[in-house]
Amino acid sequence: MKAKGGFSTHVELRPAMLKHPADIEISLKDGKVQIGRAHAVYGVPKRVASWLRSVHADGLSERISGEDRSPVGILEYVEVDQDYRGQGLGRRLVEELLGVLDQKGVQVVYLQASADVGGIPERALVRLYEEFGFKEIGRTGDHADDPVMILEL
Ligand SMILES: CC(C)(COP(=O)(O)OP(=O)(O)OC[C@H]1O[C@@H](n2cnc3c(N)ncnc32)[C@H](O)[C@@H]1OP(=O)(O)O)[C@@H](O)C(=O)NCCC(=O)NCCS
Repeated sequence: MKAKGGFSTHVELRPAMLKHPADIEISLKDGKVQIGRAHAVYGVPKRVASWLRSVHADGLSERISGEDRSPVGILEYVEVDQDYRGQGLGRRLVEELLGVLDQKGVQVVYLQASADVGGIPERALVRLYEEFGFKEIGRTGDHADDPVMILEL
């Protein structure tokens, strides 16, 4: 793949450090420089759970809010260094993270598609997640209007 400066290099994906067992980072193989990461935690915060109970999306929101105690993965943060975007790395991060969550027995994944200002347009971000099977069920979140998306693994 092409890296910054036009030279070819390779990347590797690996589990990130300790804090959350499902985190993934992507690095340059030669320099070990981290150029992206994705982050997953388990279980939705209380205020999100109560919002979810008010959205009736084919029973999925009830599952995610924890009512049937099925394991829920929360995809919180996906980021690729600005110089390395547009080369398929973001997609690989999401793919890898979903694989890890699946292996850990997670059945439902929740995310708020919150695109950084000036970065990927929200529409493109939502489309990326839709390609993995995520469905938008409403809008809420830190900015009150982020698309909320869920996926059954
Ligand atoms: C979201 C992000 C991780 C995507 O990383 P990336 O490595 O550039 O993504 P990819 O190269 O794998 O591209 C994935 C898809 O998104 C599309 N895309 C990426 N950036 C885009 C842009 N600026 N405008 C339009 N489409 C874009 C790509 O075209 C691609 O779709 P395609 O294969 O159908 O063409 C990256 O933009 C980023 O770090 N943004 C800042 C953090 C952020 O907003 N994170 C979202 C948290 S929910």
